[in-house]
Amino acid sequence: MTARNTVALFDAPMKISPTISCGRIGRATAIAFAKDGARLVVSGRRETEGKALEAELRGLGAEAAFIQADVRRDDEVRELVDQTVGRFGRIDAAVNSAGPAGQRGLVVDQSVESYAATFDTNVLGVLLSLKHELRVMTAQKSGSIVNISSTYGHEGAAGASVYVGSKHAVEGITKSAALEGAVSGVRVNAVAPGPTDTGMLDRFTGNPQNKAALASTVPLGRVGKPDEVAQAIVFLASASASFVTGQVVSVDGGKTAG
Ligand SMILES: NC(=O)c1ccc[n+]([C@@H]2O[C@H](COP(=O)([O-])OP(=O)(O)OC[C@H]3O[C@@H](n4cnc5c(N)ncnc54)[C@H](OP(=O)(O)O)[C@@H]3O)[C@@H](O)[C@H]2O)c1
Repeated sequence: MTARNTVALFDAPMKISPTISCGRIGRATAIAFAKDGARLVVSGRRETEGKALEAELRGLGAEAAFIQADVRRDDEVRELVDQTVGRFGRIDAAVNSAGPAGQRGLVVDQSVESYAATFDTNVLGVLLSLKHELRVMTAQKSGSIVNISSTYGHEGAAGASVYVGSKHAVEGITKSAALEGAVSGVRVNAVAPGPTDTGMLDRFTGNPQNKAALASTVPLGRVGKPDEVAQAIVFLASASASFVTGQVVSVDGGKTAG
């Protein structure tokens, strides 16, 4: 990645608070791109936290802007992409990382509301983001998009069916978009993190005992760090991955190796 590249990090990191600000995948990715010399747009629903991240990225010497958007809204994602192009002229890479953990529960306890609360962001949000990113990148005849899946994007988990279903969809959409983008030289891949030390993991596990139990199921014996996921994202976005498309790269400490 060179200093001339423009990276739009959609749905990056939000809610920066003393306890969770350093643990988030989007924020870690934004910082990794900034250190790599990229010009950045970060986006999310919360303006105060987004502006704080914008300032942090500028403090690292990056040209950075926050644009508020909810990925469930077609008009807001369109505006986000158009404003990014208006500001920087092009989009070389985009990362679609917004996502709620969803409500844990058995299939028999699911509802229209619990389905929508997860699928509207994880699936519709990725689809809308891809729609507008591909519109720009296919016209440019270049670009790289990285979606964020999960180990749950290719395995089942009792009590997490809705989240699991949404991440399986992300992987299918990623491969389909890759086939569509390839004729224009646009690459689309996904990173599938295993349990990673963020606020989402804390909410998902509910207490330190559950979190430790989950960590013990990881062959490398611990949960991942957001920066370890970020490094894989930056690789896939970069020219170093120029022959990689339609792939799901696991960053999971070996959790899905067995
Ligand atoms: N942490 C893990 O163990 C893990 C494992 C596998 C995959 N992942 C995936 O990694 C990605 C990042 O998660 P994370 O761990 O970094 O959690 P996180 O810190 O909670 O980040 C998720 C971000 O998505 C934003 N978001 C949610 N709905 C949105 C919407 N409709 N529009 C725009 N932004 C929205 C949230 O903002 P608000 O504050 O506005 O809700 C939040 O900033 C997610 O796709 C997640 O599924 C995480």
